[in-house]
Amino acid sequence: MLENGHGMSGFIGALPKAELHLHIEGTLEPELMFKLAERNCVKLNQRSVGEIKKAYNFHNLQDFLDIYYEGTGVLATERDFYELCMAYLDRAKLQNIVHVEIFFDPQTHMRNGVPFDIVVKGLHRALSEARERYGISSSIIMCFLRHLDEGQALEVLEEAARFKRWIRAVGLDSSEVGNPPSKFRKVFDAARSEGFLAVAHAGEEGPASYVRQAIKLLGVSRIDHGNNAVKDPALMAELARRRVPLTMCPISNLKLRVVKNLKDYPLRRLMSSGVVVTLNSDDPAYFGGYLNDNYIALSDALRLIPDELYTLARNSFEASFLSDRDKAGLVRRLDSAISDYALSNPTDGIVRR
Ligand code: HPA
Ligand code: ZN
Repeated sequence: MLENGHGMSGFIGALPKAELHLHIEGTLEPELMFKLAERNCVKLNQRSVGEIKKAYNFHNLQDFLDIYYEGTGVLATERDFYELCMAYLDRAKLQNIVHVEIFFDPQTHMRNGVPFDIVVKGLHRALSEARERYGISSSIIMCFLRHLDEGQALEVLEEAARFKRWIRAVGLDSSEVGNPPSKFRKVFDAARSEGFLAVAHAGEEGPASYVRQAIKLLGVSRIDHGNNAVKDPALMAELARRRVPLTMCPISNLKLRVVKNLKDYPLRRLMSSGVVVTLNSDDPAYFGGYLNDNYIALSDALRLIPDELYTLARNSFEASFLSDRDKAGLVRRLDSAISDYALSNPTDGIVRR
């Protein structure tokens, strides 16, 4: 049998997978931040990449959000958003990511003076190119900032209505505690009647009751994070029964101190309750780990076995917004990647699918 822990990185790299919880603004690496600051004549508070990285020491979600929103100040043109997104997609290709559903925060950019269209066009151009060049399929999820009021969210929804062909779903992010899903009931109702799907961050720092609200009041198809659902067994059972997946982000949770140690990560408790769990990177440039790093870190901490890693990759397709036919195609691709891996690594003891 394959050694657990470090031995898993080859196997993890060989698994085709989807990433479903990824803030494109959170992929802004310090090097690109500097380049864009120079190009757009924006003054940064830090003078070097090293200084920026030193500032990335967070005690909680708000600590991170303050720095993350500051970083977005260098993004100004369609080309900037294209380059940001393409840099992520180049990495995604190397990580064996075959499908991605990316979040963006239009309200942050509009406050920075960047029109909605500029942002969406830049992201869409990169995603189309990656589809052609790398065969990576994708969709875009527009998030409302929950620290702002619902009236502003309704205004952004109007902008989004013009880009329905490109934007698949709406989401909810930013400071969670004190900004419950119930605050956004009207805008989510409006979005769903416009034909958008819905997701929401819930239960990262907020209580399990926010996860319940997101399902009951916002009609979400997935919960982003959802960690605190483990404190409520009846809720776990409901997530399992309704097949509402969680898009979990282990390295983010560690860096924002949602969990103390990945050894305590509630993955197996959720999975054995029947919850569809997926792994994701959230804001990889700020947390220091892309998708495979998240799989590896959790695999090391919990000594995951190949079968569990297979389930996580498979869940990433099941939980996506792809059609049943496309999901089935990707699951077949996953199975054949495992067979190929088993054939070329016969001593690892991987069972072929
Ligand atoms: N939680 C809430 N808002 C966010 C996050 C997160 O993990 N990442 C970027 N915006
Ligand atoms: Zn997030």
